[in-house]
Amino acid sequence: MHNIQRLKPLVVTLVMALCFLSGQLSTEVFAAASEAKIGFALSMTGGAASYGATQTKGAQLAIDEINAAAGADGLKILPVFEDDASVPQQGISVFNKFINADKVSIIIGPTLSNTAQVADRIAQDAGMPVLGISNTAKGITEIGDFVFRNSLTEMIVIPNTIKVAKEKFGLKKVAVFYGNDDAFTKGGYEAFKKALADAGIEILTEQSFAKGDRDFSPQLTQIKGKNPDAIIVSALVEEASGIVSQARQLGIAATVPIIGGNGFNSPALIKNAGEAAEGVMMGAAWNASSTLPANSKFVAAFTAKNGGAPDQFAAQAYAGVYIAYEAIKKAGSTTDHKAIRDALLQLKELDTVLGKFSFTAGRDADHIPVVQIVKGGKFTVLE
Ligand code: ALA
Repeated sequence: MHNIQRLKPLVVTLVMALCFLSGQLSTEVFAAASEAKIGFALSMTGGAASYGATQTKGAQLAIDEINAAAGADGLKILPVFEDDASVPQQGISVFNKFINADKVSIIIGPTLSNTAQVADRIAQDAGMPVLGISNTAKGITEIGDFVFRNSLTEMIVIPNTIKVAKEKFGLKKVAVFYGNDDAFTKGGYEAFKKALADAGIEILTEQSFAKGDRDFSPQLTQIKGKNPDAIIVSALVEEASGIVSQARQLGIAATVPIIGGNGFNSPALIKNAGEAAEGVMMGAAWNASSTLPANSKFVAAFTAKNGGAPDQFAAQAYAGVYIAYEAIKKAGSTTDHKAIRDALLQLKELDTVLGKFSFTAGRDADHIPVVQIVKGGKFTVLE
């Protein structure tokens, strides 16, 4: 009895220590389980900065909505935004940071296919899921089974663009102008070439440019001399803006439409090219006028928050965050990357601003594309 009395304080101390430790432990497990770190590798500087700016806004809106809806006990997103600077080497550095230092649950990005084609290999080798939200060149998801994207590829979008343009303008002969040093612009060129051949449209001349070029008048003069029914352009927005402005300055009439790919889907084109952008057409994965219930809510919330309407890049970023979040929740873990990868594959008909979303067996997006035309300084659907 006497001994037991003496041991009592020790037992109490031990019990208190255990309670304290288990309390600490459960708090830690709870904290880890309640926050999923997502790494965003987006182009905030460099040639693709116009895309990165709206991608960041689209992603941030989705994060704010998700975190507000999660409440005190639900799974929240802790975003880590990094600038991939529109160049592959910086994309690789950012991916390495996300994998080794931040230890994120999933990576969203990078903005350009040109960066994705090298950075995604780092994620694949590390078994880190990566979700592209704007990569549209071919060969990205083929990198491996941890690589996904919700952005429709040029191979899906461009045949539809050419079909619609042919019906609308009776195109018979065109000029093709493309960037010869970028994965997306080269892939877009190949997709246009195939779609034109399939549609029986003749290519009168092929001209090319390099990233960072500012003067397109030599190539446009060649094109003008051939008198094409339309000019088909595979370019990112910086060069696309210069090409569109200079084509009209050189006197290529507005009746000769300029038709672009995914890189044209940025308000920066309209801002930079001004009046010359009127009538420019481009294939797209999304338009603001989509009447999906999720979309009307998104457009209203985005416009209220940012003082301007979202573009396709913002919509795909917004949808991407919801897709990644759903997969992490389904995986039941923020650290089991294989489980998150498996959950992405299993997502079925998720309601998103892009429509009911599921990945294809090849981890690509598959939904109906649209053709946009610039009218009154706005992207509208060409029907
Ligand atoms: N769609 C463009 C790309 O894939 C931005 O690089």
